Amino acid sequence: MEGCARKIVLLALMIVLVLTQGRAEALSQSEAEETARLLAALLDAGRLVIDRNQLLIDDQRRGDKGFTPNVFERQLQDEFLGRTGIDLAHLPAARVPPPARDLLAALVQASKDVVGDAQLVINQRGIGYKNFIPATFGSQAAIRFSSKSQVRLKQTALQPRNEKNQPDRYETAVLQQLAAQSIQSAPLSEITDGGKTLRVLSPIYYTKDCLKCHGGPAGELDISGYPKEGAKEGDLAGAISVSVPLGER
Ligand code: HEC
Repeated sequence: MEGCARKIVLLALMIVLVLTQGRAEALSQSEAEETARLLAALLDAGRLVIDRNQLLIDDQRRGDKGFTPNVFERQLQDEFLGRTGIDLAHLPAARVPPPARDLLAALVQASKDVVGDAQLVINQRGIGYKNFIPATFGSQAAIRFSSKSQVRLKQTALQPRNEKNQPDRYETAVLQQLAAQSIQSAPLSEITDGGKTLRVLSPIYYTKDCLKCHGGPAGELDISGYPKEGAKEGDLAGAISVSVPLGER
């Protein structure tokens, strides 16, 4: 009888172990996924804030533009709150996966640092186009954030203008798949490396505003000095790519 009770206790213990392990694993995957999506949304929100201030930034008659890192941060907070319902000003209380709190804060800081470093350029009088645009902001913020984090964030495209945005094999495959689709896609995520890495690609599509640089005629130089791609409204421009290590398993 005693042996039987011990067996039952052992069995119960094993079931509890299996159940909790399974749960912890599933949770950490979905947390990682949520974190990656929020990071992509935050980088994209930063790009949009730069876009909204483009005329101001490119105003050659004005010196001090007042577009400081703090002004940028407030606009970023508003945009992100509107998109996700998450208040970056009160992250500790926000309903986000715990690992996302530090990572979002780090990306806000990296983004502000990029705006901070660009102050001299932004406040130049007598120069219109300054090459401080959503794409250059996005590349720099992503690189800065990734250099300090285990999570990698990147802007990429099949034929990028910026060499640093070259897609890796995984990104190339997903971008080709997205480019072949006629409908616009939501962010895609997948576990790779035999379960070790979560990859999320959030596609970016061209709007009318983008075409003065990325539109036609293909090959003509745009204001930034790059040959235009000849893209049309709605075409795939590239993606924000996030890579999250999933830890021991
Ligand atoms: C003023 C010209 C200009 C406009 C307008 C513009 N871009 Fe770009 N875009 C660039 C430049 C320059 C780069 C390279 C940036 C860098 O050095 O990282 C770039 C890079 C990119 C990249 C990163 C991949 C790469 O080629 O390195 C994406 C994605 C992108 N642009 C999408 C867009 C979208 C979407 C819009 C409209 C919302 C847009 N761009 C508007 C000039 C422009």
